[in-house]
Amino acid sequence: MKRIGRRRLLIGALAGTAAVLVGAALTALGGGPGMGARPRGEAPSAGPTFLRLGEVGTLEAREGVMPMGRWGYVAGGAVNPVLVARRGDAVDLTFRNMLGAPSIVHWHGLEVDWRHDGHPSYQVASGGTYRYSFTVRNRGGTYWYHPHPMPGTAEQAYMGLAGFLIVEDADTDVLRDSGFELGVNDVALAIQDVRLSGGAAPYSPTMMDIMMGMHGWAFLVNGVQSPQIALRAGTNRLRLLNASNARVYRASVVGPDNRQLPMKLIAVDGGLLERPIEVREVLLGPGERAEVVVELGMGAYTLRATTWDPAPPRGGPMGRGPMGMPHVALTGRTVDLATIVVGERGEAVDVPAELSAVPETAPPSSGRRLSFFPAGHGRWSIGGMTWNYRDYLYRHMSASRDVEVWTLHNPSPIPHPMHIHGYQFRVLRRVGTPEMGWGLAVDGAGRLATDLGLKDTVLVMPGETVEILVDLDNGLRGQQVYLFHCHNLEHEDHGMMVNLYVED
Ligand code: C2O
Ligand code: CU
Ligand code: CU
Repeated sequence: MKRIGRRRLLIGALAGTAAVLVGAALTALGGGPGMGARPRGEAPSAGPTFLRLGEVGTLEAREGVMPMGRWGYVAGGAVNPVLVARRGDAVDLTFRNMLGAPSIVHWHGLEVDWRHDGHPSYQVASGGTYRYSFTVRNRGGTYWYHPHPMPGTAEQAYMGLAGFLIVEDADTDVLRDSGFELGVNDVALAIQDVRLSGGAAPYSPTMMDIMMGMHGWAFLVNGVQSPQIALRAGTNRLRLLNASNARVYRASVVGPDNRQLPMKLIAVDGGLLERPIEVREVLLGPGERAEVVVELGMGAYTLRATTWDPAPPRGGPMGRGPMGMPHVALTGRTVDLATIVVGERGEAVDVPAELSAVPETAPPSSGRRLSFFPAGHGRWSIGGMTWNYRDYLYRHMSASRDVEVWTLHNPSPIPHPMHIHGYQFRVLRRVGTPEMGWGLAVDGAGRLATDLGLKDTVLVMPGETVEILVDLDNGLRGQQVYLFHCHNLEHEDHGMMVNLYVED
């Protein structure tokens, strides 16, 4: 196994329940050394690890390999390594499930044959293995991998199973060659919220959590609470992932003067934008990614977010909101996720004005309208349907003929981050955007800056209607069964997922 990078630029001991060492590019979600229980056998080693996806060999899901008894994927002696692939790479790897329950790995955002996509039809029992083989066909960008059993996705992701999957291509090479180096001034940061109690973060949602999605009160970046991230002065590229089960963040970098820094948004879910867009915040629903470039001087900065807590339901029958559900006020709250410490000189990087040509999507041939409703017993429906292995929301969609506009309507008081497997789509329009998204629209169609590239996940905010354009031709032929689901993982586990059946 070849390690393609391993760096620790600055080590700072943090005070707290567990003194942890946090590396500069704490890029592996697993974190640094001395951080909790070791599994028997192969011991995860210190520091972030980048591994070539094509050379991983075996990826193992294990319990208790992270601090607080949390779980992780182990490969090449690292926990939740950052997997790096090149467009065109052939991948052949074995997943081994060492958890106590069924599991399977999903490559979020990749366009692969459904048999290698982590569909729960292929989940394997405890102790079982699954052999993946596929070709990486996506554009360069920041993707990720996480569990996808049914049920159990919510618990397993919450417990820590998740990692980045970075794809490189000719366009991302140009950007890298302008001066970004993975693990140095190009870092991947996954944001997650958990509930801590007694030094552990067990998963035990209440009925209310199942309806709202599990919202934690402790914030982890790459598995560590309030880490210090060491970067160099100059230009830095941050790859942000919202790896939370349910929480929505408006993330920004705040300077010593407490002001949000101007950032250049350069990439979203499906890779680079055409050109950088100036932003000060990015809205990230669960599953979404954004790459931003910031200029930092010497000193300390904060990775900060405004986030939404579902407020306790207002009592009494009059407190019932739409659909007879508890009235949920989504209250803005500011949280500091990580400290960015800049104590070393670095370089300025000129980000190219033209980043990439985002492929055009053919004009639509048909349209569908889909609404999201509660379906009783904490379940949610998509277009009137709840999860069932045997049913398909749409049958006989044609890869070679169909380009569809889907109108996603959310009449509920809860945000739904909607995700499609097997495709990257375009966002056409937003109508009825609530306060959560105010001030972020950048065009007359109500779109946010983060809507302007290829997307695999789109946040449909309370009361909002979002139109997306999906070309069902992802280049793969034969019968495909892809999933369309809410990435609020409690919703996903409780019915808010459907099969799409696509054929030639
Ligand atoms: Cu990231 Cu089907 O999920
Ligand atoms: Cu996915
Ligand atoms: Cu949802």
